[in-house]
Amino acid sequence: MSELATQIRPRRRQGEPAHAADIALQPTEPLAAPSADVLLEARNITKSYRRNRLEVPVLRDCSFSARTGEITAIVGQSGSGKSTLLHLLGTLDIPDSGEIYFDGRRIDNLSRRQRDRFRNQKLGMIFQFYHLLPEITAYQNVLLPMMIQAGFWGYLKNRTAFRQRAQQLLQRVGLEHRLHHRPSELSGGEMQRAAIARALIASPQILLADEPTGNLDQQTGKRILDLLNDLNENDGLTIVMVTHDESIAAQCHSAVVLSNGTTRRP
Ligand SMILES: Nc1ncnc2c1ncn2[C@@H]1O[C@H](COP(=O)(O)OP(=O)(O)OP(=O)(O)O)[C@@H](O)[C@H]1O
Ligand SMILES: [Mg+2]
Repeated sequence: MSELATQIRPRRRQGEPAHAADIALQPTEPLAAPSADVLLEARNITKSYRRNRLEVPVLRDCSFSARTGEITAIVGQSGSGKSTLLHLLGTLDIPDSGEIYFDGRRIDNLSRRQRDRFRNQKLGMIFQFYHLLPEITAYQNVLLPMMIQAGFWGYLKNRTAFRQRAQQLLQRVGLEHRLHHRPSELSGGEMQRAAIARALIASPQILLADEPTGNLDQQTGKRILDLLNDLNENDGLTIVMVTHDESIAAQCHSAVVLSNGTTRRP
């Protein structure tokens, strides 16, 4: 087991997390009957990419579920479709067939506008390559989702609270001394921590993390896993984490392996 893996320890499941922003998601159809405690679920997903006339099948009859208060890992070889599945779960893309549910409500068939709103309000996402905006500081990157979500007047009205929260989050991830640095002036681990703070600013119910330690040295990756672990244990944050490291996955509450376009238990 790698040193990194020891940072996510087996733990018991937790109760319902408390969430600051619980903005009602407009139901598009009657509640499905989700399994108890399942927060995010994909049922029989199929997804192919199309390049010119060529079809690249990636997922077929792929199902997945993440339970409230748990860290769920998705593992698989490079090219197996982990990022594809995470993007579908995060409504950044839509499946060709199958269904995705969040808290019992179907989300894969929302309009683009509804999906954007849903994503802003309910999900936090972090990416392997951070995806911070290069022109603005760490602090401004963290504030950005609130500027988008609240709109001009909403942001203006609540800016003191938003700024306080952004500073608190940057402090929580240990970046209080780097608030006004641009991404190019931050290390990889610092960029990932800024990205985590940005993902948390809107108090999401679930964090989707794509290889959050994939680009970092072992020591820095360990700190990121510590942070995710702390957010799960102390804030009850539900996390779905893509990793290529099966030993990290083995330490999560549950894990699925993605291979041949479908998921199986390890
Ligand atoms: N936009 C696209 N157009 C065509 N093919 C794509 C596109 N995006 C991904 N693919 C293909 O889909 C497959 C799955 O890609 P995906 O990025 O989901 O894999 P992954 O498991 O996340 O890999 P890695 O571990 O390397 O990040 C790959 O074979 C990839 O080449
Ligand atoms: Mg990937």
